[in-house]
Amino acid sequence: MSFCDDFRGICRADVPLADLTWYRLGGPARWVVEPREPAELAAVVARCRRDGLPWRVLGRGANVLVRDEGFDGVVVRLVAPAFEAVEIAGDRVRAGAGADFPRLIRTAIAAGLGGLEALAGVPGTLGGLVRMNAGGRHGCLGDFVREACVLEADGTMRTRSADQIGFGYRSTDLAGCVVLEAAMKLAPADPAAALARHRDIWNEKHASQPPVSQRSAGCIFKNRDGVPAGRLLDEAGLKGARAGGAEISPRHANFIVAGPGATARDVLELIALARDRVWNASGVELELEIEVW
Ligand code: EPU
Repeated sequence: MSFCDDFRGICRADVPLADLTWYRLGGPARWVVEPREPAELAAVVARCRRDGLPWRVLGRGANVLVRDEGFDGVVVRLVAPAFEAVEIAGDRVRAGAGADFPRLIRTAIAAGLGGLEALAGVPGTLGGLVRMNAGGRHGCLGDFVREACVLEADGTMRTRSADQIGFGYRSTDLAGCVVLEAAMKLAPADPAAALARHRDIWNEKHASQPPVSQRSAGCIFKNRDGVPAGRLLDEAGLKGARAGGAEISPRHANFIVAGPGATARDVLELIALARDRVWNASGVELELEIEVW
């Protein structure tokens, strides 16, 4: 039996991943599965493990570069209603991993809860943001998450406290896990004031980063020991460097934007060039912030 026969109705074969990522680059996934509820997700992951099939969870694809050859495995998307529910009680917000994060910020603000606006302009699903502890200058998701329900690497479902998630700088201890939902503690806030802060932070990002209309995956490299990768890349003279249809943004050197005709290979070429030049210029080994599939 093929993989799709076992998951009829929720599985598709040879699905172009470019349509599912911000970069809009790269080849197809062998299979894309959209489970309807957590038990079905657990069955999909168990099947992948049993058969040794590589698998990944894809949110909005805002931090992912898919290679031109595509991904020869199973891509799981948590887009069913069971994974997108949002519940607010007092100062707690509990939301499914598939919930759209920018929308969640606004829902919380409308309910008189502030905090998440610190992450204004960060795209993606809640699950993706938890997994990588996304954030920026004004804070990261781990500042708010109190616990998360997770499908563990051993196939069990468990609630992890923030400590057990292990939030670090753009990292967590959730490798091999799937986030199912997360509970956040926010602070009562005047919606108008929180919206104003949201707008200010969004404007600040907009002024220093390429416009959202340009295809990118956000920052390519992690900052190192408080040294911004963007500055190192800039000082190494990389702004405006090109490979095929891809360019290191002249606005912010830690962004590689994809123009017309760009391929994933072009982006990978610029990543290699950038690493090389920064290593030669400053002896720093840059670490990827994005995921390459
Ligand atoms: N800088 C340069 N040249 C550049 C870019 C930056 O000299 O081309 C300098 C800036 O002048 C500033 C410093 O580097 O002094 C830091 O730059 P910035 O304020 O733009 O912040 P960042 O550290 O580059 C981080 C996050 C971003 C987030 C912003 C704003 C990382 C890798 N990046 O960028 O997150 O949007 O703060 O909050 O932590 C992402 O995660 O994808 C991302 C873009």
